Amino acid sequence: MWDEKYDTDEYIYGKSPNDFLRNHYDSLPKGKILLLAEGEGRNAVFLAKLGYTVTAVDISSVGLEKAEKLAKTNGVMIETICADLEEFDLGECKWDGIVSIYCHLPPQVRKKLYARIERAIKPAGVLLLEGYRPEQLSYKTGGPPVASMMISKEILLEELPNFTFTHLQAIEREVHEGSHHNGLGAVIQAIGSLK
Ligand SMILES: C[S@@+](CC[C@H](N)C(=O)[O-])C[C@H]1O[C@@H](n2cnc3c(N)ncnc32)[C@H](O)[C@@H]1O
Repeated sequence: MWDEKYDTDEYIYGKSPNDFLRNHYDSLPKGKILLLAEGEGRNAVFLAKLGYTVTAVDISSVGLEKAEKLAKTNGVMIETICADLEEFDLGECKWDGIVSIYCHLPPQVRKKLYARIERAIKPAGVLLLEGYRPEQLSYKTGGPPVASMMISKEILLEELPNFTFTHLQAIEREVHEGSHHNGLGAVIQAIGSLK
C-alpha cells in the first residue's frame, strides 16, 4: 500500500521537514538519531544537514529510495533500513534521539514498539514525536482512517511509562506538509527522555 502511494515523482509529504521537528530539533542531543516510519526522508535529510548521524527506517522500499535520492540531492548521507516496525530490532541503549513523525500503527504493534523505544534510547536520549489524535478523523486533512491508529496524551503516558515529557501538547494546527497532510489538524506533540 505504501509503495503504491509513494510511486510518483511527487514527494507526497514534501521535501521540507515537519514543522514540529524544525522548531524543536535542538532538543535532540548531537549523535545518532533513529527516525521511525520516515518514508521519503524529509526529516532525515533535514537532520543530516545539521550534522546528526541519521538512520531512517520504513516499511516502504519505494519511499526509502526517494529518501536516498533526496539525501544525494542535498549532499548528505543517511542510512536507510527497509523493515516492518512490528519486528524491527531497535537495539539496546543505542540512540541519542528517536524521532517519530506521523508514525501511526495498529495499537498492538505500537505498544510493543514503544516498549522497545524505552530500551533502545540512551539514558540521556530524547524522543521527539508528532502524530494525529483521534479527533483528526473529523478534520479529514490526513492521517489514518481509524481512531485506533491515532495517538493521544493518554496513550503516550500509558505506553511510555518510563519517559518524562518536557513538552506534551495536544493542539490543533495548520499542517501543510505535502499534498497528503494539508489543512487544520488535531495533533499530539511530545518531547521526552527516560526518567
Ligand atoms: C504518514 S507517513 C509519514 C512519513 C514520514 N514520517 C514523514 O513525516 O514524512 C507514514 C509512514 O509509515 C510507514 N509505515 C507504515 N506502517 C509501517 C510499519 N509497520 N513499519 C514501518 N513503517 C511503516 C509508511 O511506509 C509511511 O512512510
